[in-house]
Amino acid sequence: MDYDSSRVFVENVKAALNGKTLDYIVVNHMEPDHAGSLRLICDLYPDAALVATKKAVDMMAQFFGDELKNEKIVVKEGDTVSLGKHELSFYTAPMVHWPEVMVTYESFEKVLFSADAFGTFGALNGNIFNDEYDIDRDWLPDYRRYYTNICGKYGMQVQSLLKKALTLDIQMICPLHGPIWRSNLVYIINKYDIWSKYEAEGNSVMIAYASIYGNTENAAYYLANELSKLGVKDIAMYDVSSTDVSYIISETFRCSHIVLMSATYNLEIYPKMDDYIS
Ligand SMILES: Cc1cc2nc3c(=O)[nH]c(=O)nc-3n(C[C@H](O)[C@H](O)[C@H](O)COP(=O)(O)O)c2cc1C
Repeated sequence: MDYDSSRVFVENVKAALNGKTLDYIVVNHMEPDHAGSLRLICDLYPDAALVATKKAVDMMAQFFGDELKNEKIVVKEGDTVSLGKHELSFYTAPMVHWPEVMVTYESFEKVLFSADAFGTFGALNGNIFNDEYDIDRDWLPDYRRYYTNICGKYGMQVQSLLKKALTLDIQMICPLHGPIWRSNLVYIINKYDIWSKYEAEGNSVMIAYASIYGNTENAAYYLANELSKLGVKDIAMYDVSSTDVSYIISETFRCSHIVLMSATYNLEIYPKMDDYIS
């Protein structure tokens, strides 16, 4: 958990434990928004063993020096830790989206703790399960923007994680961000499959333009209108100067056809367009 949220996190952990002690802390991912309060939780529960990949344990030393005194259990692909009724198994997911990432599968309740995979931008509104939302309406653009900007470069690694997931009987996915998936898991798995294969989601055109005086913008709208006359329906227009590049990257994954139009700027492509392209 992020250090900024550590007070609530500690309260929640204590409430969940209800007086019991903590035996294990499984660290799937060392990014500060998830592991920032690790030192705090280790100080509170010095007898809890840290379970993580070798790379994550190395990062613990980089982030916290020698301050994490807890026992470290280094796990590799397919290793298991038995908690009694519940058994955890671990699968590495390098570059989804940091090198040390692993996902954890709990075989009794068939839950996949998927680290950053299958997550989204945005805060929950009180509902915590996917089937309490209209995902297409309320969340899909955020899921897509999250995936494409965070994991988009690592399609091959995401494909490898999906192949591992196929070997498990998963009833629930708990990502580190966004709703818990307890039904229709195939929806988000299919999206990840499409995005990580760099396939478009449908027949659609994105026109992104960079214009100083408005002429390139005019040309972009003219083109859009001509496409419309030809029967093209899903046309998305973006002015790169007023749209955060993360939205344009997201649309680049979604759309089947991409048109980029830029004014020349000091013998180069207009900087905002150049930024998007690179
Ligand atoms: C700061 C600046 C630098 C420019 N550099 C070039 C250039 O290197 N080569 C060029 O042909 N035009 C250059 N232009 C002119 C514009 O690219 C040109 O007028 C273009 O048609 C403008 O398109 P727009 O109306 O969509 O902004 C520059 C304009 C500005 C304001």
